[in-house]
Amino acid sequence: MTHRRILITGGAGFIGSNLALNWKRVFPESEVIALDNLKRRGSELALPRLRSGGVSFQHGDVRTPEDLEAAGPVDLMIECSAEPSVHAGYGQSPGYLINTNLTGLIHCLEHLRRTGGDLIFLSSSRVYPIAPLRALPLVRQGDRLVAEADAVRPGWSAAGIGEDFPLGGARSLYGATKLAAELLVEEYRAMYGLRAVIDRCGVIAGPWQMGKVDQGFVVLWMARHMFGGSLSYSGFGGQGVQVRDILHVDDLFALLTRQAADLSRLDGAVFNAGGGPEVSVSLRELTALCADLTGRRLDIAGDPATRPADIPWYVTDNAAVCRATGWRPERDVRTILGDIHHWLMAERCRLAPILGG
Ligand SMILES: NC(=O)c1ccc[n+]([C@@H]2O[C@H](COP(=O)([O-])OP(=O)(O)OC[C@H]3O[C@@H](n4cnc5c(N)ncnc54)[C@H](O)[C@@H]3O)[C@@H](O)[C@H]2O)c1
Repeated sequence: MTHRRILITGGAGFIGSNLALNWKRVFPESEVIALDNLKRRGSELALPRLRSGGVSFQHGDVRTPEDLEAAGPVDLMIECSAEPSVHAGYGQSPGYLINTNLTGLIHCLEHLRRTGGDLIFLSSSRVYPIAPLRALPLVRQGDRLVAEADAVRPGWSAAGIGEDFPLGGARSLYGATKLAAELLVEEYRAMYGLRAVIDRCGVIAGPWQMGKVDQGFVVLWMARHMFGGSLSYSGFGGQGVQVRDILHVDDLFALLTRQAADLSRLDGAVFNAGGGPEVSVSLRELTALCADLTGRRLDIAGDPATRPADIPWYVTDNAAVCRATGWRPERDVRTILGDIHHWLMAERCRLAPILGG
């Protein structure tokens, strides 16, 4: 293992805390530091988990360079801090989103420029623009939208969205901060010799995600079935047929360990990474699966209004990342939901006030 000291920004968040604990468990000789400003409601619940898993917690903010300096030199930084909602900034100030996702990333890059260390940056499928995603030729089949037979578009097939999907057009401010961050990573590679891999993640799900209406819908769906509260099928006519692929956070961890171990070969790569077509689900299908697991059926209303950043279908084409790393997602939708259900049952007293409606 070449990376002995690992800094995970956003390390008390859903992905960051799972990566930090898994990293320390699989590489016990490594020193893992989780830096987080605890902005996300529920992220404070990670602190005892991190402590008992041997991960050091540093209360800090990526908007403040001194907080990164305080972490000292690291061999690898995994950048997971963010305002992660695609709806952030609409109808309100984009200040926090831009300052955290973009200025914060620049501070992370500066820290690595000064002290050395590799970078794995968690980007997003939301770098792809909204209008062409909405224009994909889709038809309803049962409870979900599917690709029209034989339809072909650049960067798209029934296997999903590839890295060559055209990037022209608006993509939400969230997506724009991620794409701008990717460009800066590329410049730091070219100018300062930074070694970096970028993963454009689709929907990630699993235990310890503090799902809310604007981010983390898989956990939100299950939590509302268990703890009560309302859900609605919002957008695209309010039918609930929109589709996403889902990746279990432990499958993401497996990918990142492969990338970290092979960084000199993978340096500069930009991958789409997600569950892929086999691990995809529509909202209606998700409702049925949650009802099966919980024994509770919710009456879910349709809200036909489509919000500006909503898209009807996103499935990751994992071909490039699988080819380059030998990785593939192992957990299917039922396994992911089973893990979430088990976690919510075990932690219901602490989680019901946060995740219930
Ligand atoms: N969860 C997904 O489906 C998904 C999909 C694609 C990309 N991503 C990306 O993965 C990363 C992690 O996402 P997540 O799902 O774990 O979100 P999360 O909200 O659970 O975690 C983000 C963490 O960052 C912290 N944070 C926010 N602002 C900060 C700041 N200024 N300084 C320090 N910490 C700050 C929050 O307190 C939170 O704990 C993000 O970059 C996100 O954009 C997530």
